[in-house]
Amino acid sequence: MTKVNPLRSLAFLLASAVACLAAGPDLMPLPAQYEARAGRLVIDGAFRVKVSGYTEPRLTRAAARTVDRLFKQTGIPTPQAAAAGPATLLIECKGPSKPIQTLGEDESYTLEVDPTQARLSAANPLGVLRGLETFLQLVDQDGNGLGVPAVSIHDQPRFPWRGVSFDVSRHWIPLDIVKRTLDAMGAVKMNVYHWHLSDDQGFRVESKRYPKLTSLGSDGHFYTQAQVREVIAYAHELGIRVVPEFDVPGHTTAWLAAYPELGTVPGPYEIERKWGIFDPVLDPSKEIVYQFLDNLFGEMTRLFDDAYFHIGGDEVEGKQWQASARVQAFMKKEGLKDNHELQRYFSRRVQAIVQKHGKRTEGWDEILDPHLPKDIVIQSWRGQKSLGVAVQQGYSGLLSAGYYLDLMQTAEFHYLTDPINEDTRTLTAEQQSRILGGEATMWVEMVSTQNVEARVWPRAAVVAERLWSPQSVRDVRSMYARLETMSRRLELLGLPHRQTYRLMVERLAGGEPVGPVKALADIVEPVKIYARSDSGKYTQFTPLNRLVDTALPESDAARNFRYAVADKDWKTVRSTLEHWRAAAAAVRPTLEKNGLLLEARPIADHWARTAEIGLEAVEFAASGRTAPSGWAGPRLAALDEAAKPVAETLLMAAPGVRALVELAAGGSK
Ligand code: ACM
Repeated sequence: MTKVNPLRSLAFLLASAVACLAAGPDLMPLPAQYEARAGRLVIDGAFRVKVSGYTEPRLTRAAARTVDRLFKQTGIPTPQAAAAGPATLLIECKGPSKPIQTLGEDESYTLEVDPTQARLSAANPLGVLRGLETFLQLVDQDGNGLGVPAVSIHDQPRFPWRGVSFDVSRHWIPLDIVKRTLDAMGAVKMNVYHWHLSDDQGFRVESKRYPKLTSLGSDGHFYTQAQVREVIAYAHELGIRVVPEFDVPGHTTAWLAAYPELGTVPGPYEIERKWGIFDPVLDPSKEIVYQFLDNLFGEMTRLFDDAYFHIGGDEVEGKQWQASARVQAFMKKEGLKDNHELQRYFSRRVQAIVQKHGKRTEGWDEILDPHLPKDIVIQSWRGQKSLGVAVQQGYSGLLSAGYYLDLMQTAEFHYLTDPINEDTRTLTAEQQSRILGGEATMWVEMVSTQNVEARVWPRAAVVAERLWSPQSVRDVRSMYARLETMSRRLELLGLPHRQTYRLMVERLAGGEPVGPVKALADIVEPVKIYARSDSGKYTQFTPLNRLVDTALPESDAARNFRYAVADKDWKTVRSTLEHWRAAAAAVRPTLEKNGLLLEARPIADHWARTAEIGLEAVEFAASGRTAPSGWAGPRLAALDEAAKPVAETLLMAAPGVRALVELAAGGSK
């Protein structure tokens, strides 16, 4: 893996300190080394891109795509053929990448921009692809129009495995969303699409050998093999590997709906419609299970070209194994003393199958077993401690814990989660070098095709920065400022995450004024972690069209208010509170009328009360007077009430106003 050179980090720190003073480069992820130069390269209709040195069709297409994207970003038509003269953007590529992208290939690039030309050089097309994204992000406007500031950038990733893990089973995720996800990943320099293709609720890829997997296990929602090839080719264009996951032996109800003979109990089975951890599990005592996996994985390892093949292995409770006389007899015969040892036995057999088909095995923490070959990769959903155990045993590992986008946590939380933390910092350098990176992870129980992109993006971009940029890049305010730009860039690229939010807000408003409903949606967040999916109320068929489904994982309005309080920016604090008070009053009639919003009625009262309390508090805080004793107590109690979930949402105005009240009270209650 690419280790960060300490001198380079120092240079970066100095550069970023300087850059911070000058507002810093509005890039995400931030490059390893960035130096501002004097002047600007103008972007106009004469823009011309040229590939020199090594070239291949992928590079030519990347250059053409850059022109197309530049048009989307600027609206300036830049007709390649018509433009004469020297290249505005000169790409210098030294040689080819591997035909099938491998882990740890060089992705570094250098980008030098002066007022006459931008020169992007890289060892191979992967580096060029990464550098083109940086170039496109640099395009901005100043008083004279569109251009790129003169810079010198030397950039390379901190970790070689920077992925998005995407469940497409719980809800079907159609091909256009898959491709847009890849586009967005490319834009933030991510390089692994981990496709969680099967689970209890659906088996999502065509098998010619076992066609019932999709005819009985997918509701007709699956990718054909031709579509899988199309996705792999599409990802390759963007420098992204595609790693499939077929989760065994648990999470297999949809398989068993098709082939019940593989199960521990006779069945019959039906595709699971609810969320949780379910009992159906493959039977490790049956040879036909290994024959089936050998055939299926043989077929799938030929379809997917990546060197890694993910076998899942998570969340096997083994209740059916315990209740099965057949499995118990098998365990006795094999000397396996518990479910854990039985799963280890199973994982070893499956690993051997994957190896026989020429691939390396990847799996979740649960497959960890000191006796597997050391070329496997453990993906940790349990955390850095578990990741540390894996690398201490000689394996490679990835971090997913802390990057679960479905848990509705803040970008800040994900951003500050680092594969190298207090649990892994003390590992040897060699052990740390086997921590390959991580994956932003999206489980899709509580999303629909309408809101899933707004739940993955833009937050996945901060995971991308965590895994690409030097570890020292941790300024949260800078991250949020750049994330806002990144979010808009992603929309220009074709991701509809901001648009779907507006459409869902309009649908909620149902013909009533949209402004107050948007203000309401802007200030609430969905309840966190597994509060919704564990409630037992939801199935695959439940409409996800409510306020909680519309609201974004993180309220920008609430965060900006908290920042204004922290900064003692009383003007912003006051105007925000006044806006909230007015919006809370304005939204009330709509909440009464509209069936989708009735459940949210109590929020309007809490919100109005919160705004009132804030307006009282800001008068104390702004004047430096301390509120009289006895003032804060009942107000904090009201804020506690306001902070409780209503309609599975949280009123995020409450925490900021609480901070304001505490400031006003100056420690007295
Ligand atoms: C997992 O979250 N069960 C991998």
